[in-house]
Amino acid sequence: MNSLAGPLHGLANQEVIKWIFNMVESIGTTKPSKEQIADYVNKTLSEGKVIPGYGHAVLRMPDPRFTAQKTFAEEYIKGDDIVQIVWDMFDVVPEILGGLGKVKNPWPNVDAHSGALLVHYGMKEYSFYTVLFGVSRALGVMAAMCWSRALGFPLERPKSVTYEWVKDFLNQQS
Ligand SMILES: CC(C)(COP(=O)(O)OP(=O)(O)OC[C@H]1O[C@@H](n2cnc3c(N)ncnc32)[C@H](O)[C@@H]1OP(=O)(O)O)[C@@H](O)C(=O)NCCC(=O)NCCS
Repeated sequence: MNSLAGPLHGLANQEVIKWIFNMVESIGTTKPSKEQIADYVNKTLSEGKVIPGYGHAVLRMPDPRFTAQKTFAEEYIKGDDIVQIVWDMFDVVPEILGGLGKVKNPWPNVDAHSGALLVHYGMKEYSFYTVLFGVSRALGVMAAMCWSRALGFPLERPKSVTYEWVKDFLNQQS
């Protein structure tokens, strides 16, 4: 949870929404053109800052979690200006970052989209976004801890045993 608070990692979903709101305020419209977005991206880069929501230490493609959120929004959210900005950024940012020649992954990560969804559904307590992200991860860790204790293993991974193995194991215990 502490490492998530770092500005270049988990905090990025707060940073993304802050960046979008700053751009909207600076340009004076919630419906910026792609050219206006590209100009604001270049301005951010010229100030020596990163584009939040883009890049990844390991991934070298659009983050599947970004794609899943986009697919969800395309189906359930219509006419949301902030969501539209996220999609327009997807059209312009990778080319600009790719053109810098040093960014290993110019594609969006999970944080590029999540803030726009939270805003859409009314969650405007931006400083809680990273906490929410952490809580969703904690559920996975807690589930693994329960299995680890139940099975008596020092470390548990989702695919380390099959369902059939668990059934046999429990039958042997009873
Ligand atoms: C995620 C991140 C920290 C990965 O860092 P990394 O593994 O060092 O990434 P790279 O190897 O591609 O970095 C090489 C260069 O590209 C730059 N770069 C990477 N992503 C960038 C971005 N989104 N905008 C501008 N520059 C970026 C780095 O700052 C670095 O520049 P430098 O050599 O002048 O220091 C980085 O991509 C980043 O800062 N992204 C923006 C913040 C963000 O979205 N974080 C959420 C991550 S899930």
